[in-house]
Amino acid sequence: MRRKIFAGNWKMNYTVKETREFFSAIEGKIPAAKSGCEFQLYVPALSLTIALDLGKKSGITIGAQNVHWETKGAFTGEVSGPMVKEIGVNQVLVGHSERRQHFGETNTTVAKRCSSLLKQGFNVLVCIGETRAEREAGKTNTVLRQQLMALFHEGEHHCGSYLGKSLHVAYEPVWAIGTGLTATPEQAEEAHQEIRTVLTKSVSEEASKATSILYGGSVTPANFAELLKCENIDGGLVGGASLKPQDWLALAQILQS
Ligand code: PGA
Repeated sequence: MRRKIFAGNWKMNYTVKETREFFSAIEGKIPAAKSGCEFQLYVPALSLTIALDLGKKSGITIGAQNVHWETKGAFTGEVSGPMVKEIGVNQVLVGHSERRQHFGETNTTVAKRCSSLLKQGFNVLVCIGETRAEREAGKTNTVLRQQLMALFHEGEHHCGSYLGKSLHVAYEPVWAIGTGLTATPEQAEEAHQEIRTVLTKSVSEEASKATSILYGGSVTPANFAELLKCENIDGGLVGGASLKPQDWLALAQILQS
């Protein structure tokens, strides 16, 4: 059975002090994660240590938002796998659309990050999704296929053997991120079905079936339950709402209900 995952993405929000405040606001109220369910939280690099410490007590998997594919060297401003591993991080978010939009991340660099981190033993949640212009031009499926094929075509950065084990996928239509415009459950399910089909064809049916595919883009406690009813939606990657303790708790509850 596929794991159900509620993943929060804090992006560039919350200082160490604010991270502490968030955890004290949810402390004692977090539903115990049921078997087959997982709570993940991707926090800024500076908050990883404190979040790992506080998250451990509450059963939340703390992840890094962006890690370089090289393990060390002349990459000013970047963070490496060994650096985050040493402090206890096992989970990394890769290829978020904001990395693609603002920091020149491409399908190739996403594949390089994924394959290097998977080989280093990390669990990876890789993000894909189309822009509004691509959707309006009828190119959604083509874009999703290209983004996935970068990970699974034969070659140096092939990630197929990790799929459904340490590699899972988040579908985030760029037009729905931070805009309040959620994809309808039908639109999201259609994309998730397409993703699962591509995973089956490019890796295997077994790996595809074992892959959790999370939906992201303006998920809130008001729409999460409807999205989760869809057969191929196995959870949510949540930005804005994951910053609010009450919403975070509600989303954790909804995942398991
Ligand atoms: P949002 O962000 O929930 O604020 O739309 C989602 C994301 O970017 O992961």
